[in-house]
Parts: sequence; C-alpha cells; structure tokens
Amino acid sequence: MTDVDMLNAGRRRFFRFLAGSLVLTPAARALAEQLATSPPASLASVAEALQVMDFEEAARRTLPPAHWGYLATGADDGLTIQANVEGFKRIGLKPRHLVDVSKAETNIEIFGQPWETPLFICPVGGQRAFHRDGELATARAARTKRHAMILSSVSTYSVEDVAKALGHPPWQQLYMPLKWDDTENIVKRIEDAGCSVLVWTIDLLGGRNTPTQTRFARQDTRNCLACHPHGGGTPIYRPMYDGLDGRVNPSDANWATFDRLKSLTKMKVVLKGIDNAEDAQLAVRHGADGLIVSNHGGRSMETLRATVDCLPEVVSAVKGRVPVLMDGGVRHGADIYKALALGARGVGIGRPYLWGLSAYGQEGVERVLEILRAEFTLTLRQMGTPAIKDISAARLARI
Ligand SMILES: Cc1cc2nc3c(=O)[nH]c(=O)nc-3n(C[C@H](O)[C@H](O)[C@H](O)COP(=O)(O)O)c2cc1C
Repeated sequence: MTDVDMLNAGRRRFFRFLAGSLVLTPAARALAEQLATSPPASLASVAEALQVMDFEEAARRTLPPAHWGYLATGADDGLTIQANVEGFKRIGLKPRHLVDVSKAETNIEIFGQPWETPLFICPVGGQRAFHRDGELATARAARTKRHAMILSSVSTYSVEDVAKALGHPPWQQLYMPLKWDDTENIVKRIEDAGCSVLVWTIDLLGGRNTPTQTRFARQDTRNCLACHPHGGGTPIYRPMYDGLDGRVNPSDANWATFDRLKSLTKMKVVLKGIDNAEDAQLAVRHGADGLIVSNHGGRSMETLRATVDCLPEVVSAVKGRVPVLMDGGVRHGADIYKALALGARGVGIGRPYLWGLSAYGQEGVERVLEILRAEFTLTLRQMGTPAIKDISAARLARI
C-alpha cells in the first residue's frame, strides 16, 4: 500500500465516522457519506495515466486543500491560465506525408549544452508542499529521464542538495532579494554551486492577487500552525535565503538593476517573464543571454495573452541573437511542437509535473515527462518533420 492509498483509506474512514455521527445535521451526514464512498483516487496506479491531464485530478485528491490551492491558483479569476492552455488549441497542424519518418531526432543544444529533448522543468517554489521529497524527487526524475531542470530560489531543498540529486548543477532561478548585499550573496552561492545559468524572474515585481489560493486555504480544516509556526502559507523551508533578509522582488528594479546583476556574475543570465517585443529588444540590448516567454503560468496577472501568442513577436524582435524559451499551458506533445514551430528553442512545464509529483512523487514526475516526450516524438513523425530542424511555422495554421 502506498502513502497515497493509506491517506485515502484514512480519509474514507474519517468521513464514514462523520457520516455515522448524530451530532451532524442529516445534510452534513449525507455529504460525509458521499465523500466516504467517492473513489479514493482518479488513478489506481501511475501506469494507468495515459495523458498528462490524468494527473491533475489525482493530485487534487491527494493534496490538502491549502496546498492544492497554492498549486492551482492563478491571478484573479484564472483567465490567464485558461488563455495559455486555449492558445495552443487555436493553432492547427498541417502535416506533410510520404517523408521518411522512421527516425525522429529530438535533441537540441543551448548555451553549448546538449539537451536530449527541448522539454524542460520550470522553476516551482515550495515543492515539499506537494511531496515530502519535493525538489529532490523532481531532480531525480529529471536525471532518470534526462531533462533539463530550473530550480526555484524559493525551493525547499538547497541548490547544493538538488545538484547532487540531479547529478549536475541545475539552472538556477532567482527571486531577487530586496537588499543588494543579499543579491550578491545569493548569486555567489549559486555560482559556487556550479550553476552555469541564472534565470531572473521579472514578472512579479509589482505584487499579485491570488484569491483561489486563499479560498482553498480557508477550506482547510487542519491546524496550519502545527507545521507553519509563522502562520499558514508562510514557507517552512527556504534554504537559499538562509542568513539573508528573505524579502524578495524589489518593485523599483529596472534595466540598470539588470546591468548590475549581469556584471555580478560569469553565469549566463536569462530573463523569465518577457511577453512583448519592446522588452525583448531591451533585454538583448542590455546583454541578456536568453529569454523565457512566460507569464508565470497565469499567476502574475489577469487577462494576459497566451504565452504561445506572445512568442512570435518576441522571437522576431530577438532576431536569433539569443535563445528564446517559453512556458505556460503546455499539456501535450503537440503543444511543444507548436511552440518550437513558432521559434522557441526550449519548452517548459510547471503544473503538469507538479500533478505527477503530488500524486506519485518521483515516479509521477517521470511518467509526466515520459508521456510528453512520447507524444512529442509521435507528433514529429506524424507531421513529416522527423528532426527539430525540419519544424517551421509553415506547418501551422490558425483554426
Ligand atoms: C505552484 C507554482 C509555483 C511556482 N513557483 C515559481 C517560482 O518559484 N519561480 C518562478 O520563476 N516561477 C514559478 N512558477 C511559474 C513556473 O515556473 C512556470 O512559469 C509556469 O508554471 C508554467 O505554466 P504551467 O504551469 O501552465 O506549465 C510557479 C508555478 C506554480 C504552478
């Protein structure tokens, strides 16, 4: 019996107990009975998952409401999350036929590093909220399945520990500390850990509103203070900020701040959260080594455009001078294909691997990566473009 099975069995026993309790109203007893008899998990095993979305419900049933709320939330009504996913659905595919597709080549190169596929793992903070092994489980899955990983600076395991689990230093994301001295310290630590790429996230400098997260937290009947001594929602582990002030995302940051950051390190510096041509041009002018077209998975602002719709203008502004990666709403191998056809060098996932992590730990992340890689390879072949170099926007059509 896995931990998840035990958790579900315990939950069913609890609701059955409530259903039999005379202290509750008949309506509450009926609800408890319904919850006690609802299927324990949407997947009986990790192998049962056929598509990435199969993991979403499994994760929702596994996680306590407050942690599910942290994972699922977007800004405001979640319209940007929806836009990211829907954006891919409006792009159709125009395959070519009678092309030799017996061999598919998925490998790419970025900053001189060979990647076996363009699919990478996005930085996500607080992963012990999803599984006790958190970022270590994600890193082990990335290692086993040979995918690139970007580690969040608000991780629950340190870059040093994750580098061991991954087998090499990850790319490291940064939420910039408010104090410049702390920025210098954290950047030095990341460099000392051997990371070659620093990814500065710039799409949360003005704050955000995440009501879905708050609503789920209110539904959670557990005593948050039992685990979070500083209050529910306050991170328990943030090893990358140990010894630092801990506050991040200076709202007065500007391009001069970027210049300062750039001059602080020999690492490549990539900007995450670019979604328009003007900023892309400025970024290249200021020496950014790469860009990630992203809107934080719809968690930064409401009614932003789908990232896949922002991609062409960023790619055209950059004119091939630096690599452009993207994330947001990727749920199928065909989505990876579409993003590459629009000029992305690499394509990232956030929630999909978190669903796998939440429901099944390392094994769940591995299965998510496996499914997406298999779907992507299938798309390459079926499109009559068996190598990544064969992909172009000519194979896409608005539908
Ligand atoms: C729960 C959660 C936490 C996240 N934490 C971070 C973070 O610490 N740093 C960061 O740059 N992006 C963070 N992101 C955004 C992801 O890196 C990525 O941009 C986004 O999840 C991609 O969209 P998707 O979830 O639709 O795949 C987070 C996303 C989620 C869902």
